[in-house]
Amino acid sequence: MAASAGSGLSSHPVAHAHWQNVDTAIYSANSARDSSGELLVAGVRASTLLAEHGSPLYVVDEQHARDRAAQVHSAFTREFERIGTSAKIYYSGKAFMAVEAVKWMREAGLGIDVATGGELAVALAAKVDPGKIAMQGNNKSDAELEIAVSVGIGSVILDSSEEIDRLAAIASRLGRVQKVFVRVNSGVHASTHDFLATSHEDQKFGIALEDAETAVAAIRTHQSLEFLGLHCHIGSQIFDTSGFKESASRLLKLTAQLRKSGAVPELNLGGGFGIAYTSDDDPEPIETIAAQLADIVRDTCAELGIGIPVVSFEPGRSIIGSAGVTLYTVGTIKRVALTDGHERTYVSVDGGMSDNIRTALYGADYTARLANRVSTAQPQLSRIVGKHCESGDIVVDTEFLPADIQRGDLIAVAATGAYCWALANNYNYVARPAVVAVRNGSSRVIVRGETEEDLLARNVDWSIT
Ligand SMILES: Cc1ncc(COP(=O)(O)O)c(C=O)c1O
Repeated sequence: MAASAGSGLSSHPVAHAHWQNVDTAIYSANSARDSSGELLVAGVRASTLLAEHGSPLYVVDEQHARDRAAQVHSAFTREFERIGTSAKIYYSGKAFMAVEAVKWMREAGLGIDVATGGELAVALAAKVDPGKIAMQGNNKSDAELEIAVSVGIGSVILDSSEEIDRLAAIASRLGRVQKVFVRVNSGVHASTHDFLATSHEDQKFGIALEDAETAVAAIRTHQSLEFLGLHCHIGSQIFDTSGFKESASRLLKLTAQLRKSGAVPELNLGGGFGIAYTSDDDPEPIETIAAQLADIVRDTCAELGIGIPVVSFEPGRSIIGSAGVTLYTVGTIKRVALTDGHERTYVSVDGGMSDNIRTALYGADYTARLANRVSTAQPQLSRIVGKHCESGDIVVDTEFLPADIQRGDLIAVAATGAYCWALANNYNYVARPAVVAVRNGSSRVIVRGETEEDLLARNVDWSIT
């Protein structure tokens, strides 16, 4: 049966007339359907993309990503200039880090936030000025710190007390003075999924707020370190600024205290701005967020009677998330009777938790559309699943797809630009798909897809016979 309700899904927004539309509040700005009903991304048909580059495929709307980087950069620059200071924007590379994408960010004037030596290597390969790179990480190795210092990285965000002496010794040995932030665990709980909320007290990141003064005092004893300020990141996929307000207030109070014994010129409030994955998500325009955050910082500094620091942000998802779409080809379709009398259609695609683990990892929600056509068939309750040996291998848990969906149809899953390719894996020896950038009606590979040979190549004592 074609279900439009039931199974706890009666509130799902399928009832509206345009359920097959490609909504650019969710899909990238240059997405549309052509006159035949096929999905176009930046002027290129979904079927053409898969014919040329294989299925499944990560597609990035290059102009959308570039425009979004420029938009975020200019919104924060303008708003923090308005309050008499400046803002620095670091693209958080962990969201999606391909050399080409990092070049787009560099060209938009952004710095890069890296979390490992590997991400640092990508940023350097993209010719990012090392002075515009910041390095995070709760467990940076000596080797990672050594490379960071030796290339002249702009700042290292210290994440633990023990890291202070290690970094100081490395910088001293290399004859450098390394600029540093201290990541504090501000205790602010962003209203988001537990696994994403990184400022809980009981978690691995940062130094507890109450221990930060001791840590900063220790930093100031080292001539090879220069303390810039406090850093915090309160979580991800956040829609309102109340969590930022609270953490900015706590960090600025501490900044005021720390300024009694030395300079504290900067503050880093992390990333975490949310995007729309489904029509339930309604993020504020980034201009509004930037204005609110600037007001929060200005007002808090005024209350504390301190000068306004230079303020940094590290957005990832809000720059690259909506630029991405994943295209899949439909394989096996099964209709499963549910205990409540309804039916769910399991639509299997040729990827799954290896190219998008977010649904399995934290119950992420997505929007999917039939990409090669529109249909006059009824919407039916569907679950888009992958090809892996896990029953939790779900790409989109709940979506309505046309009842006449069939093997060989194409499916587009929106807003997969962040934390999909980045978290991709080879479970079941499934090769990771290529990443293709599309712009002005043409496509080009920016990260090639893996082959089975790639997968076998790291096995020892193996050769094709
Ligand atoms: C320290 C830090 N900064 C920035 C980010 C980027 O967050 P988002 O992609 O939500 O903007 C993260 C993501 O986890 C993070 O851990």
